[in-house]
Amino acid sequence: MFNPRGVAIIGASRKPGKIGHEILKNIIEYGYKGEIYPINPKADEILGKKVYKSILEVPGTVDLAIIVIPAKFVAEVLEECGKKGVKAVAVISSGFGEVGKHDMEEEIVEISKKYGMRLLGPNIFGLFYAPTQLNATFGPKDILQGNIAFITQSGALGIALMGWTILENIGLSAIVSVGNKADIDDDDLLEYFSKDEKTKIILIYMEGVKNGPRFIKIAKEVTKNKPIIVLKAGRSKRGAMAAASHTGSLAGSDTIYSAAFKQTGILRAMNVAEAFDWARAIAELPPPEGEDTIIITNGGGVGVMATDACEDYNVKLMNLPEDLAQEFRKYMPPFGSVKNPIDLTGQASEKEFAGALKTALKDDRIHAVILLYCQTAITDPNSLADAIINVIKENGKTKPLVISMVGGKECAEAMKKLNLKGLPAYPIPERAVSSLGAYMKWARYIGKI
Ligand code: COA
Repeated sequence: MFNPRGVAIIGASRKPGKIGHEILKNIIEYGYKGEIYPINPKADEILGKKVYKSILEVPGTVDLAIIVIPAKFVAEVLEECGKKGVKAVAVISSGFGEVGKHDMEEEIVEISKKYGMRLLGPNIFGLFYAPTQLNATFGPKDILQGNIAFITQSGALGIALMGWTILENIGLSAIVSVGNKADIDDDDLLEYFSKDEKTKIILIYMEGVKNGPRFIKIAKEVTKNKPIIVLKAGRSKRGAMAAASHTGSLAGSDTIYSAAFKQTGILRAMNVAEAFDWARAIAELPPPEGEDTIIITNGGGVGVMATDACEDYNVKLMNLPEDLAQEFRKYMPPFGSVKNPIDLTGQASEKEFAGALKTALKDDRIHAVILLYCQTAITDPNSLADAIINVIKENGKTKPLVISMVGGKECAEAMKKLNLKGLPAYPIPERAVSSLGAYMKWARYIGKI
């Protein structure tokens, strides 16, 4: 499914704006290197590609078929896919289990099984895989490549989040819309991404799992190797009812899900921003080697707020030994503080920040750093971002460093620069702390710290 030699788009439409047209366009424009076969009995050529009347007429190998025709015709073309020797099918079409048509859903699973094909969906927006430059979705075409694999049961939310990751400069290794999970389920994908070199962390938007024991067994294995973040929706009674009519999922008791996540070391995020905040930090930073964390700040207030957040997210602030405190004193006026938060004071320039950061990175007793900045007229955010980037260039990313820049649009621009360099930066300190806390929680679960 992820490394196909050839892809057929069954229902590739001639009309721009139709799903079958946009998927074909995305596959072509994102630069997929394998063979592309549009299938449509009414067309000869679409977007410069030769069109075949049926998949059975395709001369080359088709490993993946994307099916974009109305539900009632899907079973018939699946038979043809099976006869052609297709390995995996992604059924975009809606109108199966989610609207009570369970028999139709069972039928397409049966046909797939009969031919040894795996089936993704139905009721999905497609899949994206960075290593093969395969964007077989009807979402945005300019997805940033990175090392977060994103599995989503919600289609529209998934597509919306694809756009959001572009805006937030978050890179993805894969996106898989699982929809009704008639065959391929989260656990299958966890197994795959666990071994996928490009993927460092797996993020799942989930409304329900079909096979709880198997999910737990696999998740337990995978988390030893890679962190998993889950956004589990349908927590409330009404939310669970909404999930049932959305993807036909039984959302189940939230207490049971919470317990399962705890036992398997899954990090449970409560909202989209939190999930991606954590994923960004974990994807970009080395894992912590210990618990001892310091806060470097130019603002007392943000330092205090971050200190509270450290308690909330179980991040341990160290007491600085006297020799280390002396080192940090070099970068602050006499009225600064080395009590951790290390307060460089409002008069700190990028030079003091850089000096303190270098000290923190070099000393092995410090395992993680939270760097906070409040916008002042003394230090321009852009210069500070450059100084941080330089320190990292010289010293390497040897330990987790999360950054927060609180201020106006100059801060937003500086944080964009940092994020593009793989240095996670957040507009409020709590988000930086929560991201570090999530990484610490995983490292603790696997016994690394
Ligand atoms: N083989 C190949 N192509 C076929 C075909 C077949 N057996 N039968 C029809 N086609 C062609 C059609 O001629 C059409 O091409 P054209 O536009 O050039 O004429 C194209 O395939 C699509 O068929 P059409 O009947 O126009 O369907 P549609 O585009 O209106 O709807 C779906 C198809 C799959 C998009 C629609 O049924 C659906 O399920 N929509 C919801 C999808 C969704 O939201 N999924 C979840 C996302 S989160």
